[in-house]
Amino acid sequence: MTAHNKDVFSLIDRIIAHYRNTVSGDEEIRKETARVLSLLEHLPSLSEDFNESRHPVVAHVDEALTSAEHAYSDFTAAIRPAIRYLPWKYNYAPRKDKPSLGSTIGFAEIIGPEAPLRSDKVCLGLTLIAPDTLYPLHHHPAVELYYVIGGNAVWTKKGIARLVPPGEYVLHESNVIHSMETGSEALLALYAWTGDDVITISVYDDIAAEEKEKEKP
Ligand SMILES: [Fe+2]
Repeated sequence: MTAHNKDVFSLIDRIIAHYRNTVSGDEEIRKETARVLSLLEHLPSLSEDFNESRHPVVAHVDEALTSAEHAYSDFTAAIRPAIRYLPWKYNYAPRKDKPSLGSTIGFAEIIGPEAPLRSDKVCLGLTLIAPDTLYPLHHHPAVELYYVIGGNAVWTKKGIARLVPPGEYVLHESNVIHSMETGSEALLALYAWTGDDVITISVYDDIAAEEKEKEKP
């Protein structure tokens, strides 16, 4: 196994230990954490190596690590050696109105339908959002459990916005509309997708609204 693969597997081990240690006061988050853990009990085999990422969002890795190191997380130390070797991507269609999104937002899927550890049942990865960036309203059929590793950002769900600090979980139920907006700090967060459909990717809702507007006679 390559050194990079070993670093990523160490990170996965630390993430699983983190979920096991989770004692949330929110029953829905406890249930979802248990569901994620049961799906991670048998890891898929590695179908491709983890290699250095050339995605433009990697330019913001240092800001994300700074945010993470200002906060406490039981797996922050395991992120640093692995973070540049994760399969960073931005898998929305490019937008003429927001051309920078593809270089200021990134998702590193470690386990999932297109990840080096292939699974159609569960996704596990990191989301990185550069400072002063709005990740616009979007939704997806998968149930999404986020854990904020670093960065205070404004998270909006069903139209209600709140500042979420590092160390908190955020649960997005299937197809609920949500967004995140960073201020001076980059946001680094752990995500897991479960539910009936972890294959269908996320779509933006602000574009959908504009398109609907255009369709009106
Ligand atoms: Fe989401």
